Amino acid sequence: MPPRFNIADVLTSPSGEGFFNGFNVRKHDKGSMICTGEGDENGVFVVMGGRLKVYLVGDEREMTLFYLVPGDIFCMHSGCLIEAVEKSELRFTDIRTFSKKLEQCPAIAFGLVSILGRAIMSCMRTIEDLMFHDIKQRIAWFFVDRASSEGKASGTGITLSVELTIEEIANLIGSSRQTTSTALNSLIKEGYISRKGRTDYTILDMPRLTTAAAGRLPAEEWSSVGKKIRPV
Ligand code: HEM
Repeated sequence: MPPRFNIADVLTSPSGEGFFNGFNVRKHDKGSMICTGEGDENGVFVVMGGRLKVYLVGDEREMTLFYLVPGDIFCMHSGCLIEAVEKSELRFTDIRTFSKKLEQCPAIAFGLVSILGRAIMSCMRTIEDLMFHDIKQRIAWFFVDRASSEGKASGTGITLSVELTIEEIANLIGSSRQTTSTALNSLIKEGYISRKGRTDYTILDMPRLTTAAAGRLPAEEWSSVGKKIRPV
């Protein structure tokens, strides 16, 4: 990893002298919106104090991408929402003035590269999480399906024997062996499934596992799941 960009080094260098001329000070209380994603004044700002959350909102979900801390530079036209999660202070200027500052002090471009790098890393992590989430759902569905046709009700849940290697399960659900193994272990750790030996599984809570698989299970199949379980 390269050393973290420090705007203070730039501002104390000769080319950084007077950098903030043409910026104005903006103070934000905790919880106040800096960027709502609609009708915001365009510009670029440097965080001087506090902490800002950069996030996206969907229908019912909010997804935090990353946080801005003192020294970070960001803009008002990224399409993200920005909220002060602590009392914060910014130095704000318009795009034109910032472009001129960049010409006078090119080292500030490292600050932009640094924040864009962090933004990309965070977005990549989010994409990975979403993909992984999907794999967990597919494994959940695999076990729901198997348990529905082959499971036997027992005192602890629904037991079933899966005579497949992780690689074979991975091929069935369309994933890699490593990702499938990690996702299955995560379902075990979260108490959906338990495993004894290599092949014996118990679905500890069928409705909960079914809910976990919900993203991939058509609604009309819900009611049939569980009904097919053969009692011992
Ligand atoms: C600091 C982080 C920054 C981020 C995350 C960012 C992000 C973006 C994004 C997502 C767009 C595309 C917008 C769209 O097509 O709707 C864009 C366009 C643009 N950005 Fe930035 N930007 C940043 C900084 C800057 C800075 C410092 C400047 C100039 C000094 C700048 C100038 C522009 C310009 C001129 C456009 C094109 C606008 C247009 O198509 O009319 N941006 N930026």
